[in-house]
Amino acid sequence: MYFPRYRPRRLRKNELLRRMVRETKLSLDDLIQPLFVVPGTNVKEPIESLEGQYRFSTDMLVEEVKEIRDLGIPAIILFGIPEYKDSSASSAIDDNGIIQRAIRSIKGSVKDIIIITDVCVCEYMDHGHCGIVENGEIINDKTLELLSTQALSHVRAGADMVAPSDMMDGRVKAIRDRLDDAGFTQIPIMAYAAKAASSFYGPFREAAESAPAFGDRKSYQMDPCNRREALREVELDIEEGADIVMVKPALPNLDIIRDVKDLFNRPLAAYNVSGEYAMIKAAAKMGYIDGEAVMFETLLAIKRAGADMILTYFAKEVAKKIR
Ligand code: PBG
Repeated sequence: MYFPRYRPRRLRKNELLRRMVRETKLSLDDLIQPLFVVPGTNVKEPIESLEGQYRFSTDMLVEEVKEIRDLGIPAIILFGIPEYKDSSASSAIDDNGIIQRAIRSIKGSVKDIIIITDVCVCEYMDHGHCGIVENGEIINDKTLELLSTQALSHVRAGADMVAPSDMMDGRVKAIRDRLDDAGFTQIPIMAYAAKAASSFYGPFREAAESAPAFGDRKSYQMDPCNRREALREVELDIEEGADIVMVKPALPNLDIIRDVKDLFNRPLAAYNVSGEYAMIKAAAKMGYIDGEAVMFETLLAIKRAGADMILTYFAKEVAKKIR
């Protein structure tokens, strides 16, 4: 049936009709709120490049997490800015480190929220790279030991899920083995499976003080030009034991999100990263776009591409609108 008998506009006539035929919806269940935690007390420091986001000390973090839980958001992901950084990331594997303390504080007073921890050493290394550096090179296999120790330390502190974001080869297997050996067979791994060496992480690196002191991350994070390689990365992480796979950043990789959804039978996360958030906030501030409308359009596009869950700095803002 074609025009003039078929007229697609009939079902666009008003919002009620549009609601009835809407194919993609955002739900509270889709949202994961990233949070930054710093040492000290009574700290709620605005992050300049991420309007509306803060670095929290553990006491203030607990209050924030309560609010997030009360909004109905099911999960948070924690990033830590430690007291000190060195060349072996010792503050990352300290059972009394910033993330470990944050987890214990949250667990002590907030129920009904999933705590995911980002497993990576860039925030804890004096050189800002995601692995051990020797002679200017990022050493893969030695880093696996460090990452699995970090993951185990998070889980011992009470983390519900760990999310390795470093892009070393074999890290999902190393972490799975380590957790299983320690009896944590029920803790899921959300793998940053296809993570590009992207320039969209700029504001995050300011927020987490994790920019590399020399070079870049291109020897471990993926070349954003490669679609088939992204699928291979996802396949490897599933083989190694990933329970949830992630594509990151989300917006420049909607094709890959769709491919992963179609080709693999695992829950799929997408990370709407700091630069994507900052661009919308900045353009809205300038009055160039309607920030709220663009926020929804962006997150719906990520969902429509196939994401089952979205890590986004917009989580709280969206939750307030859709609940
Ligand atoms: C740690 C990590 C990064 C992000 C998440 N985990 C930074 C990076 O890889 O440089 C980026 C998140 C964002 O930009 O919102 N490796």
